[in-house]
Amino acid sequence: MNNRPIGYFDSGIGGLTALKEHFALLPQEDTIYVADEAHLPYGTKTQTEITDYSQKIVDFLISKDVKAIVCACNTSSAIALPVIEKTCPVPIFGVIEAGSQQAIKLTSTNQIVVLATKATVKSRKYDETIQKINPDCTVTDFAAQELVQIVEAGDYQNPNVQAEIDRLLAPLENIDADTMVLGCTHFPIIEKLINNATNQRFQMVNSGQEAVKNLTEFLKTNDLACEESSTPAQHIFYTTGNPAVLQNVGNKFLGEKIQAVQHLAEES
Ligand code: SIN
Repeated sequence: MNNRPIGYFDSGIGGLTALKEHFALLPQEDTIYVADEAHLPYGTKTQTEITDYSQKIVDFLISKDVKAIVCACNTSSAIALPVIEKTCPVPIFGVIEAGSQQAIKLTSTNQIVVLATKATVKSRKYDETIQKINPDCTVTDFAAQELVQIVEAGDYQNPNVQAEIDRLLAPLENIDADTMVLGCTHFPIIEKLINNATNQRFQMVNSGQEAVKNLTEFLKTNDLACEESSTPAQHIFYTTGNPAVLQNVGNKFLGEKIQAVQHLAEES
């Protein structure tokens, strides 16, 4: 048994897709969520920048005595995690292995498309991971960096937003695949709009959700879950950007779960 919180981080609100799964699977576990919105988007940054930003947040979460960390950002999982995990003193879970496993499980044609940020596509981490697990699988990467800002803007009901997503994803019409990895944790927030744009052709993989399933199993098998308690779990939110923005846009997705957001100064 271990009552310490679990740390989650992302460049912005995308990691809330993992946190939502946490609320469903681990309702008793406390969390600390960090959105690095001062540096959003990660997908257009250099490898050094992505690794430095991610390392600072991991150090912050360690200073808050977390028992495990979910790197709830595909770009950071692809670029920074292989470096950070070498020295991280607590277990750290990325989203790429988890998303890859689920895509392989779902596909019946062995043709998978990965929708991700520029940096994740460039890293070819999904191709490498999927082909290592199942060399018969073919992976097509498609960079849709613009979707990150669309998600952060939070204007999902606006018909112009659907039209823009239709335009961005039009080239996918010619891609032969039956399964799509939403290879950026922001994307499940607009899964419906992505589905509309691609004529419901793909089975969707939510990589953050899959990572939390792995974490849940890990806590159970390693006797690291918290004690049963009658008090509700505590959820603390930080952003390096504007707290009001994370709270407003985040609550549109999480349903008023974010009661307060603290500002995290960049040098912390
Ligand atoms: C980004 O900041 O560019 C998106 C983060 C992600 O890849 O999940």
